[in-house]
Amino acid sequence: MLHIRGGTVVTAERSTRADILCDDTGLIVQVGANLETPAGYDVVDAGGLLVMPGGIDPHTHMEMPFMGTTASDDFYTGTAAGLAGGTTSILDFVIPGSDRTLLESWKAWREKARKAASDYGFHVAITHWNDQVHADMGTLVQDCGVNSFKHFMAYKNALMIEDETFLHSMRRAGELGALCTVHAENGDAVAYLQQNLLEKGQTGPEAHPASRPPAVEGEATQRAITLAGLLGVPLYVVHVSTEEATSAIAQARMRGQEVYGEVLPQHLVFDDQVYTASDWLKAARYVMSPPFRPAHHQKALWGGLMSGQLQTTATDHCCFCKAQKEAGKADFTRIPNGTPGIEDRMSVLWHFGVKSGKLTPENFVALTSTNTARIFNMYPRKGSITIGADADIVLWDPTAERTISAATHHQNVDYNIYEGMTVSGLARKTISNGKLVWDNGDLKAVRGAGRYLERPAYKRSARFPL
Ligand code: URP
Ligand code: ZN
Ligand code: ZN
Ligand code: ZN
Repeated sequence: MLHIRGGTVVTAERSTRADILCDDTGLIVQVGANLETPAGYDVVDAGGLLVMPGGIDPHTHMEMPFMGTTASDDFYTGTAAGLAGGTTSILDFVIPGSDRTLLESWKAWREKARKAASDYGFHVAITHWNDQVHADMGTLVQDCGVNSFKHFMAYKNALMIEDETFLHSMRRAGELGALCTVHAENGDAVAYLQQNLLEKGQTGPEAHPASRPPAVEGEATQRAITLAGLLGVPLYVVHVSTEEATSAIAQARMRGQEVYGEVLPQHLVFDDQVYTASDWLKAARYVMSPPFRPAHHQKALWGGLMSGQLQTTATDHCCFCKAQKEAGKADFTRIPNGTPGIEDRMSVLWHFGVKSGKLTPENFVALTSTNTARIFNMYPRKGSITIGADADIVLWDPTAERTISAATHHQNVDYNIYEGMTVSGLARKTISNGKLVWDNGDLKAVRGAGRYLERPAYKRSARFPL
């Protein structure tokens, strides 16, 4: 039981001086100025710190089987690293293989995730269509606490679906009150361009961005929005990385269409120059999709976040070590796609967003936690500091500096994309379900302490229109 004393509580709406009491069931039971410390409570000194809802990362891939290998951070190491960075919940992805039904896959992911140190929920990917998928989507929403499904318009001959499958899934999700999410890149165009580049002898990582230019994302984003509009269902676009996709989302919203967009901090701070490194491995480590873009796209992403046209930040945390990346040594299309970052999302967004004056601390809370809780129907249990909410809280030092490095990070991967970057703003203490799990550099994450988050279907009238 904790008494968080003397801090400034920052929510998506306002900042106020207040204390917080967290009881032994892991809930917030009191919020108010100058509270007495009840018997049996430990005092956590929040003097000089901002007290915010713990971060929610709605896009991670822990121990994901992908491109012939498995992502190196598992549900324990990855969520523990998240706690060190102030993130107290994740939404990960169930990826059904061809050998298992959706429901069997969801059960397998539940097993894998039992070791998680923080709370977690799942989006379930729709990778093909048949009557079983139709039925399993119903079971997942009604009985299993899944209220969102994922669709890949890229990764041809692997995860990619055709528009017809996407339409079937969107209609079904709509009738169930679930939200469709999408990785929007034109997978046929990517496969075609990859083949062209390989035929011309372009086999290195510098060909990766050339195989997935901005227009490929712009077209797919617009197509996904059009398809969702035909059926009148809401849509959430993951890892928006271009001006084209940002505009498509903003225009749809101005037409009254319910479309949301997610941004990764890495797309805000790196451009396509990362692929020009003469060291193969250095460039390969930035191979993710969508790729890093010419710098002017960053301006559109910031504008989207500042104006509210883009609502969330995530990491797409997907770790591959040196030997795994080297599977693509002779052919860039075989480099496992993905970059780490769950530990650094909050710091990087604070430094480049709040410290630079683009975002207020309240905007920061909205973009790292509250908006995600609302969009994925976890609010106010998550994403808020209110009586009855889960005691997932970060004590944030807005001015302390930290130099990011793989030598000191907690992610189970042998590099850090932000290596050597000094950022202001860090999690001093992280509280997960009422327990102090990160204390000034001391990680006390507990294997298996995380709980599965059941997310109910949406009642449309109850949706918060962000
Ligand atoms: O490159 C990426 N993003 N890897 C993970 C899978 C995905 O597309 O999100
Ligand atoms: Zn139906
Ligand atoms: Zn993706
Ligand atoms: Zn992803």
